[in-house]
Amino acid sequence: MEVVIAPDDDAVARIAADVIVRTVRSRAAPVLGLATGSTPIATYDRLVALHRAGEATFAAANAVLLDEYVGLAREHPESYRTVVERAFVDHVDLPAGNLHGPDVWADDVVASCAAYEALLADLGGVDVQVLGIGTDGHLGFNEPGSSLSSRTRLKTLTASTRLDNARFFSSLDEVPHHVITQGLGTILDAGHLLLLATGPTKAGAVARAIEGPVAARCPASVLQLHPHATVVLDEAAATGLELADYYREIQHAKPSWQLL
Ligand code: PGA
Repeated sequence: MEVVIAPDDDAVARIAADVIVRTVRSRAAPVLGLATGSTPIATYDRLVALHRAGEATFAAANAVLLDEYVGLAREHPESYRTVVERAFVDHVDLPAGNLHGPDVWADDVVASCAAYEALLADLGGVDVQVLGIGTDGHLGFNEPGSSLSSRTRLKTLTASTRLDNARFFSSLDEVPHHVITQGLGTILDAGHLLLLATGPTKAGAVARAIEGPVAARCPASVLQLHPHATVVLDEAAATGLELADYYREIQHAKPSWQLL
């Protein structure tokens, strides 16, 4: 795992967008794994800016959602498909129909989860997966206790996640209790994991995920099992890290040929 401590939110977005653009340029048919929440929005803004400047095209790409709420109307402004369209897809040249997510509106949710796993396999797997982290250590919507080898399935949100996400809704009661999320095993199948975290509220979860034991108690700790995981933090999210000075030294001494 490589840990990059950036000065601020803007620098996190620039680093993350560079990784994504490099991946897109290096693949004939790139598959981007997109997360929602507040953290990646600045990265999507940066990708849109790079696209407008003629420096990034998504014309050959597919994009797949990490997770989706169950119980919201398809056109609800907080459904994750809508959020990703608003923040990214509507402003770039990703072909219509190339944004995919689990079908949370189907009667048979179990079949939807299996179909989503099959779709990810048909696309050839995710090349780079953008990830956030919950204050409870969740990854995607894999809440504490999730099997480290879990696949796409229905999950129940913790009370703390529903409280964290209530800011996107007019009341806590409106926050769904259920989601379909890629499992931790599904996430581990991606070629490159790119976890972003900013702000002081993430410092505890980030420290447990990066420097704590690999354990279902902190699902994001599963990143420690992946051969190509990059964690990009701002200073505030890095305050709980015992080895912060070492991570800084690694970046300082990095050979110029060695990319993230
Ligand atoms: P946030 O959510 O980016 O809104 O903090 C991250 C997450 O819950 O995974």
